[in-house]
Amino acid sequence: MAQTTSVRRFQSARIGEFRESVIREMTRLALKHGAVNLAQGFPDFPAPAELKAAAQKAIADDFNQYPITWGIKPFRDAICKSYKRFYNLEIDPEREVTVCCGATEGMIASLLALLNQGDEVIVFEPFYENYWPDSQLSGATIKYVRLYPPDWDFLKEELKAAFNSRTRAVIINSPNNPTGKVFSLAQLKALADCCEEHDCLVICDEIYEHIIFDGEKHIAPISLGSLRERTVAINSLSKTFSVTGWRVGWVIAPPELTSSIRKVHDFLTVGAATPFQHAGVTALGMPDSYFASLSGTYQAKRDYLVGILEKIGFRCHVPKGAYYVMCDISAFGFADDVAFCQHLVEDIGVGAVPGSSFFADPEHGRNLVRFCFAKKLQTLDAAGERLSKLTKG
Ligand SMILES: Cc1ncc(COP(=O)(O)O)c(C=O)c1O
Repeated sequence: MAQTTSVRRFQSARIGEFRESVIREMTRLALKHGAVNLAQGFPDFPAPAELKAAAQKAIADDFNQYPITWGIKPFRDAICKSYKRFYNLEIDPEREVTVCCGATEGMIASLLALLNQGDEVIVFEPFYENYWPDSQLSGATIKYVRLYPPDWDFLKEELKAAFNSRTRAVIINSPNNPTGKVFSLAQLKALADCCEEHDCLVICDEIYEHIIFDGEKHIAPISLGSLRERTVAINSLSKTFSVTGWRVGWVIAPPELTSSIRKVHDFLTVGAATPFQHAGVTALGMPDSYFASLSGTYQAKRDYLVGILEKIGFRCHVPKGAYYVMCDISAFGFADDVAFCQHLVEDIGVGAVPGSSFFADPEHGRNLVRFCFAKKLQTLDAAGERLSKLTKG
């Protein structure tokens, strides 16, 4: 035991305040307690058959060695084609695309490549939990701008006040995890004005671009003329194609920035899995009907879970996109969200994520929990049956 204490001195100061990801910890606890896992964001239904066949074929055809570090040409071409198809944008596959191990690597590689010690980065709160450790590792300090319910809007004056001479970038995630917010054109324009005034980058995580409800439309910041030259767009196959385990994502950025991102990416991971990049060509070429039915299917799941939760006594913030629902738990009389989630996973048998894990100040999430609805209806039913045992406090 003494040895355990003494080896601590070898721990990097960089990770001093790191803790296990709350989301992934909840998945671990759900497995341990045999709970229905509505915590982590991944589907429990099969990935599309044609994608699985394409991946199997790529392996059988012996695409099994290192890829070109920034991505195989056919996949980079397919990425650019999809930006033309969905946003009418010309992206240069040779100079503006870096294929990474998921959006996760895309974000950390970008921040390491583009930020310096002492820089500030603006993050909208509540936020996807990786942005804090990513910023820490890059040496930047986060300035938070709150998104306020019920619509999870920011206040323009709070956004403006967050900028100063050290601000280097704004991270935006739309459609948003955990709130389901979809940033409007007016909001993106307000953001663009601030970024131009202060000469900042917009780093946007758009992995839920095709999971969007109620006729809302995703506006890619890179498609707004003035942001074309200052946007770093991060995306992935994970959510759109139900293949979170494939670990294939990409970053689109102007050539000079791409050149830096590619260097970091090369030394971090060399490349993303070659056969899955080949299958990614099939994925991005799926017909329009695939993308339309994705939103339709998830909207039905959203409505189904919200119906179940509201009947039980949760007050739901109905999302406009992504596949999570944030709920107010005040009706159940628990001390806080962490105690509530512990009770849920250990005694009720359902995994959820405590709302506080999405806030810098945990107090702001004390009455909130997040459920994921990327699940079969039977799974949502099973969760509902267990949750109906909750008693109001
Ligand atoms: C907003 C957001 N970004 C990134 C990721 C991770 O993406 P990937 O699987 O491509 O690494 C997630 C996963 O839940 C997410 O919600």
